[in-house]
Amino acid sequence: MRRLRRSEAIRSLVRETRLHPGALIYPLFLCPGEGVRKAIGSMPGVFNLSVDEAVKEAEQCAELGLGGLLLFGLPAEKDEQATGAWADGGIVQTALRELKKNRRLDSLVMISDVCVCEYTSHGHCGVVKRDGDHFEVENDPSIALLAKTAASHARAGADIVAPSDMLDGRVAAIREALDEGGFEQTPILSYASKFSSAFYGPFREAADSAPQFGDRKSYQMDGANLREAMREIELDLAEGADMLLMKPAMPYLDVLHEARQRFEVPMGAYQVSGEYSMLHAAFERGWLEPERTMMESLLSIRRAGADFIVTYFAKDAARVLG
Ligand code: PBG
Repeated sequence: MRRLRRSEAIRSLVRETRLHPGALIYPLFLCPGEGVRKAIGSMPGVFNLSVDEAVKEAEQCAELGLGGLLLFGLPAEKDEQATGAWADGGIVQTALRELKKNRRLDSLVMISDVCVCEYTSHGHCGVVKRDGDHFEVENDPSIALLAKTAASHARAGADIVAPSDMLDGRVAAIREALDEGGFEQTPILSYASKFSSAFYGPFREAADSAPQFGDRKSYQMDGANLREAMREIELDLAEGADMLLMKPAMPYLDVLHEARQRFEVPMGAYQVSGEYSMLHAAFERGWLEPERTMMESLLSIRRAGADFIVTYFAKDAARVLG
């Protein structure tokens, strides 16, 4: 076996899996204001950006050849109905209009995350009914809000909408709302296989979306369940999902691989905040080599079956790939 490992030239020739900047998506956290660039403590190099700063960041991403951006919003105000998520003047909608009118950004696919947890006062991904200590995230009233949110993102210029809530029937509701609004051509990238994961911890600081009570286990999947993930994917495809997003990535490579074997649709994986933060923590201590570890982590996700990767390393990896 060692004959084909003798030089970088030979290794490059026989390499089975490759990374490409165009298959990397960079998440942006949009916030109100102007000139705002607020560092997120647990995610070195990641910021909350006002729209003007986000445009500059996006220009950098386009120059690096990234495939696209995934947009999250931190609204000025939160309420029980997540008004900031679906209002046409909302933060993501405002950013989308600015980003889409900038011709230097044409090479980037603008993907909007569709969820309400950043916009609800309680931080859950839907409408909540409370009864003493018990609470319920009500399915159908919530998916109505998600559908409205997706349609308003499409109106503002989103190229793809990406529901991340994990409520039942949201893909069908979003498809219907998009079609009714004249957006038959807007694809849905469904976070079909999304587990209830401790690895989202740093994101909840970045997006200010930690639930104020309870947890997300009644809607996000139990990490023990691979078969259930396949059923989630089947249902989302039947409801009209065009592409799939698997999440988290590194702790669930087996799920990604299994999905790749079974389904022919384009499939991405989200290397989530905690995956990024834990690697950075080790880089800071000098325990892991940053560049090699970062590239190996991305390669593992690609090898397991992801066509594209949403990652906070997107810009750094694109620089390495040249
Ligand atoms: C919104 C959403 C979350 C993430 C993406 N979309 C948070 C959550 O479900 O709690 C996590 C992304 C990350 O950790 O990088 N529902």
